[in-house]
Amino acid sequence: MNVTVFRHERDAAVALADELLAALARRPALVLGLPTGRTPVTLYRRLVELHAQGRADFSQVTTFNLDEFLGLPADHPGSYRAYMTRHLFAPAGIAPAQVHFLDGMASDPEAECARFEATIAAAGGIDLMVLGIGANGHIGFNEPGAGLSARSHRVVLKAQTRRANAAFFGNDPARVPGEALSMGMATILQARRLVLLAMGRGKGRAVERMVNGPVTPRLPASFLQLHEDVEVMLDEAAAERLTRAQS
Ligand code: GLP
Repeated sequence: MNVTVFRHERDAAVALADELLAALARRPALVLGLPTGRTPVTLYRRLVELHAQGRADFSQVTTFNLDEFLGLPADHPGSYRAYMTRHLFAPAGIAPAQVHFLDGMASDPEAECARFEATIAAAGGIDLMVLGIGANGHIGFNEPGAGLSARSHRVVLKAQTRRANAAFFGNDPARVPGEALSMGMATILQARRLVLLAMGRGKGRAVERMVNGPVTPRLPASFLQLHEDVEVMLDEAAAERLTRAQS
């Protein structure tokens, strides 16, 4: 894993947006994997800025989002689709036909997961996968446990994860759906390049275990150690334990 520590969150967003711009210049029909959460908001803001300046053309990209809540209609303000439309797709001119989600309203979630996997394969796989990390080391909604599901699957969310997502549901964890659909860890690891963003002290312990700890389903992010092309972008607070462990 290549780890880069930035002074401020915005510096990491600018660096990753520049990398995306360079990748788009090489391959306008880039296939992107995208996360939600608080962390990527700064990145999306920067991409929207670049688009407004005429420096980023997303007209040929295809996107796959990592996860979605189960039982929420696409237009529910708490859905990840609504989040993506608000923060990136609408202001950056990315049309609905270019974007792919696990459908949280699918009547047959297992079939929906298989459909999503097939769509990724048909797109030729994911070129660049942007990731966040949960404070408990989850990636997407791959929660810590005794084992991991390789492919996209249905998940029961941990109480901690529901609390972390409460901001989208009137700050009430009880209103956060109890289940979700998530891209599987093996699917994520098949992306050609992974870039993980982690900001703030609250992520420090998970980041340290992800980089230095054993590969274990108890910390799903540790599986990223198995990938050959991973960039970890941190701010100083998220890197604090790492720096301490290394010195
Ligand atoms: C959420 C999402 C993840 C995200 C993570 C961190 O539950 N399912 O995809 O990376 O938790 O979120 P945040 O960036 O808000 O800390």
